[in-house]
Amino acid sequence: MALLHSCRLLAAPRLAAAASRASSWWSHVEMGPPDPIMGVTEAFKRDTNSKKMNLGVGAYRDDNGKPYVLSCVRKAEAMIASKKMDKEYLPIGGLADFTRAAAELSLGENSEAFKSGRYVTVQGISGTGSLRIGANFLQRFFKGSRDVYLPKPSWANHTSIFRDAGMQPQAYRYYDPKTCSLDFSGAMDDISKIPEKSIILLHACAHNPTGVDPRQEQWKELAATVKKRNLLVYFDMAYQGFASGDINRDAWAVRYFIEQGINIILSQSFAKNMGLYGERAGAFTVICSDVDEAKRVESQLKILIRPMYSNPPANGARIASLILNTPELRKEWLTEVKSMADRIISMRTQLVSNLKKEGSSRNWQHITDQIGMFCFTGLKPEQVERLTKEFSVYMTKDGRISVAGVTSGNVGYLAHAIHQVTK
Ligand SMILES: Cc1ncc(COP(=O)(O)O)c(C=O)c1O
Repeated sequence: MALLHSCRLLAAPRLAAAASRASSWWSHVEMGPPDPIMGVTEAFKRDTNSKKMNLGVGAYRDDNGKPYVLSCVRKAEAMIASKKMDKEYLPIGGLADFTRAAAELSLGENSEAFKSGRYVTVQGISGTGSLRIGANFLQRFFKGSRDVYLPKPSWANHTSIFRDAGMQPQAYRYYDPKTCSLDFSGAMDDISKIPEKSIILLHACAHNPTGVDPRQEQWKELAATVKKRNLLVYFDMAYQGFASGDINRDAWAVRYFIEQGINIILSQSFAKNMGLYGERAGAFTVICSDVDEAKRVESQLKILIRPMYSNPPANGARIASLILNTPELRKEWLTEVKSMADRIISMRTQLVSNLKKEGSSRNWQHITDQIGMFCFTGLKPEQVERLTKEFSVYMTKDGRISVAGVTSGNVGYLAHAIHQVTK
């Protein structure tokens, strides 16, 4: 009797839980997979090895491996604090001084499209939110196909952004794993077969995840082909200045396409080049045929944004706007963005020379050929697994490393570990 009683006691909460599961609105919701990059960070945090390295996350680190706040950002913040500004809502399209400066930065001050005003730029919630505004705008107004052609591979979030907005992500060849470089003939072959009036997404610079960008002559061929196929070009520019250290050089493709009469759309992020990750400052731009068209597009972008999040966050846009619009701060920023890019470029060189010192006879030239925050090392999934298990070096399974996580203190250890799993 006592046993029966205790069994009943044990069963009661279980039955109650099952009953509440069955009656819940959300009982059918299945557990989703964890985000691949966040999963890498979680595993890294649990590791107790003092030599551990997190090369998964795409955020800049200084040469001590610490998050870095730009000095121009600190100064802009101090200026904002001293002004004791109000906390009123921004307009739906964002802070006008910021959107104008973002357009000028990407298009160039001498751009005909910029000077004539035949463009519209709205503030977005960093690069991701700006891409989502673009994807929703396409879904509502693009008269051609729903297909959006992405490079293979692309930043994983591109697929989700376009799919969730009701567009259909497709792929064109981009990267050749055999050479760890651009598969230009494959890309051109695929792009020349994309049905007319489709959308093609291009990474403006520092392609994520491969670090592989077309050369200027290749961009020219690409521009001619997309023009011939009458494709709508969507540039994603998340790394202006961060790739080469030069904001104009990194915007070369965007500006060249516009000069060729290609009315692109563009998303920008200030997460990496100003280190404003959590501030969520970004912009979405549509190049139009004239000012009147730009006004009409702007009105519809506002109608689209209003029910999504009403209006964008103010702080990051204020910081970015002050930096871009205050000559001394802008000058300081250009130096700082160059120093971040230079540190990454120097880590690439040091990694290759340390691999040679370790005695690796492999060709690692792609590490220095690639550009930007990421390097597609060419490591196989089993080699990545060994790096993590045996050396506590964390990265995504595709062999991508964030070079920003490499420092002069750990580059030797990383080279040693890579050599051990590749020799
Ligand atoms: C290619 C690309 N686009 C857009 C983004 C957007 O980043 P955020 O939303 O942080 O600005 C990133 C960030 O990693 C990226 O790599």
